[in-house]
Amino acid sequence: MSLDLIFSRRSIRRFTNEPVGMAEEKQLLQAAMAAPSANNFKPWHFIVIRKRETLDRIAAVHPYAGMLKEATLCLAVIGDPAVNGDYWILDCAAATQNILLAATALDLGSCWLGVHPREERKREIGELLGMPDEMEILSLVAIGHPAELKQPRTQFDAERVRQETW
Ligand SMILES: Cc1cc2nc3c(=O)[nH]c(=O)nc-3n(C[C@H](O)[C@H](O)[C@H](O)COP(=O)(O)O)c2cc1C
Repeated sequence: MSLDLIFSRRSIRRFTNEPVGMAEEKQLLQAAMAAPSANNFKPWHFIVIRKRETLDRIAAVHPYAGMLKEATLCLAVIGDPAVNGDYWILDCAAATQNILLAATALDLGSCWLGVHPREERKREIGELLGMPDEMEILSLVAIGHPAELKQPRTQFDAERVRQETW
């Protein structure tokens, strides 16, 4: 199996207005829920956001989410700390990465938008999405048909690798 998929995943921030299909949406969510999870407790929940008004409102409160004005889909990745303690962060990060890789495999563009651990962003976006207080949002993923091309790359750096001990 080739690693091309991993190296091809790039942050895409320009999108066409063609909607993401429902079958693709399902595949993205299946990929998210196939992620590894500590104890396999799977503390995650997802909100599928397609409404233009909501996408634009998030873009207005998140300082680095301008691409949501073009994205046709956004997935919010949410964790329940009552289910897996602080592991919700790691489990939801793994789910987020799976969404990005699945989007790449489906020829969609995607970009991870950081929310946790910025408390103000968490509060504003949590309110906007009507989230219960006990849930925590880890990330948003902007998704759409890409309107920009980025080259695959590895970023491999041999200086970051040590053998056997530090
Ligand atoms: C935790 C995290 C938060 C990020 N938040 C944002 C963000 O808010 N807005 C954005 O445009 N990109 C965001 N990114 C994407 C990074 O900027 C991007 O991954 C990095 O520049 C490397 O580029 P690449 O994804 O094309 O390899 C985030 C990535 C991570 C892992």
